[in-house]
Amino acid sequence: MSSLANQRILITGASGLVGSRLSAELAKLGAQPVAAVRRPVRDEARELYWNPDRGEIDRAKLEGIDAVVHLAGENIAEGRWSEEFKRKILESRVKGTHLVADALAHLERKPRVFVSASAIGYYGNRGADVMTEQSSPDDDFLAKVCQQWEAAAQPARDAGIPVTNIRIGVVLSADGAALAKMLTPFKLGLGGKVGSGEQFMSWITIDDLVGAIIFLLSRSEPVVGPVNVVAPNPSTNLSFTKTLGRVLGRPTVLPMPAFAVKLLFGEMGDALLLSSTRVAPTALQSAGYQFQYPELEPALRHLLNR
Ligand SMILES: NC(=O)c1ccc[n+]([C@@H]2O[C@H](COP(=O)([O-])OP(=O)(O)OC[C@H]3O[C@@H](n4cnc5c(N)ncnc54)[C@H](OP(=O)(O)O)[C@@H]3O)[C@@H](O)[C@H]2O)c1
Repeated sequence: MSSLANQRILITGASGLVGSRLSAELAKLGAQPVAAVRRPVRDEARELYWNPDRGEIDRAKLEGIDAVVHLAGENIAEGRWSEEFKRKILESRVKGTHLVADALAHLERKPRVFVSASAIGYYGNRGADVMTEQSSPDDDFLAKVCQQWEAAAQPARDAGIPVTNIRIGVVLSADGAALAKMLTPFKLGLGGKVGSGEQFMSWITIDDLVGAIIFLLSRSEPVVGPVNVVAPNPSTNLSFTKTLGRVLGRPTVLPMPAFAVKLLFGEMGDALLLSSTRVAPTALQSAGYQFQYPELEPALRHLLNR
């Protein structure tokens, strides 16, 4: 493992849930996070301009970057999946990844590692089968997005830059995303299983996600290829529901039937709430990452201060 002190680490999507926490943790380690911003640069030392829609990135300022964490992409849970929104979900990822990968490939001095986000949506709806990095992809919308997202890093691979595609699970954080959306109904006693409750949800705390990214950045020998970033104990929706209810001290007796999910959330509900993906962090554990929160109940108690 090498120290990240004084390393200049470019982060795209730095203002997001993961990027903001990662930037803060890297700064604590003495690294110099540099945020890729889509607006005019305000802080020359800490920001670099890019605009994936226009294919623009400050290539000169990329020289001297030691490592890259690419997280940017339209938030998939922000709205109903119209054809227009699905196009944005795909394009924001494929165009952005290709732009960064191509710019890195043309640098005089290449970064040590390019950590590029992907998602466990790669595997799709797979029942109770355990997915490792070697498992085949599915062919639904998100699975196709993930495959094209990962493939878009090819210019960096071709230039000999080690590329790590982190297939991120459902991120648990009190500050946003899935858990924050669930909290209000659960606190009101309106929580309950979704659909059959048998579908697997492969979760990861924000602490372990950021810990795993820092672990991957710190390795002197980068882990090349896909890396599942999920806790080692995925939970079914029913057991997640019961555990969250217990942690909050609230009843969880109001199920949401599958037809209601489809009616309320359309294709997005199907993909994010009813789909079953049971993923193992095989590559991460083989590389020696030690999880801070491998079990759900202590993870939720930590995140919710309960
Ligand atoms: N959260 C999860 O549960 C989860 C699960 C699996 C995978 N992931 C993936 O991990 C990455 C980070 O997740 P997150 O939860 O931090 O996401 P997030 O909070 O939605 O942040 C993503 C960031 O990407 C940038 N962005 C938004 N729309 C964009 C667009 N159209 N084009 C280019 N950039 C855009 C924004 O940053 P700027 O405004 O600073 O550019 C935004 O803050 C995402 O790619 C996400 O798909 C997340």
